[in-house]
Amino acid sequence: MTRVIFIEHNGTEHVVEATNGDSVMQTAVSNNVPGIIGDCGGCCSCATCHGYIDPGWLDRLEPKASGESMMLEGVLGAESNSRLTCQIAVQPELDGLTVRLPESQT
Ligand code: FES
Repeated sequence: MTRVIFIEHNGTEHVVEATNGDSVMQTAVSNNVPGIIGDCGGCCSCATCHGYIDPGWLDRLEPKASGESMMLEGVLGAESNSRLTCQIAVQPELDGLTVRLPESQT
């Protein structure tokens, strides 16, 4: 199992066991983590799965595809470490991945 750590905007931390191959968004939704909605089911068309990746993890993720980059351009509060969590697949190498959730999704 791979642990993913979600930190809500208010500082509440959720450490969840993720299934490898699931997306980080699916992991949040199936563990009832507030702040990740996933309205489009993971097809990169809603941006309700926006999260800020802790900087130490950014280089370990697959780069953004053009569709994700385009969606992020329209996201309120997007930063250089913003990702759509539906586009990140959980892998054993990501054990401890830390994602901070934006205030706009509280
Ligand atoms: S769940 Fe819709 S863009 Fe990620």
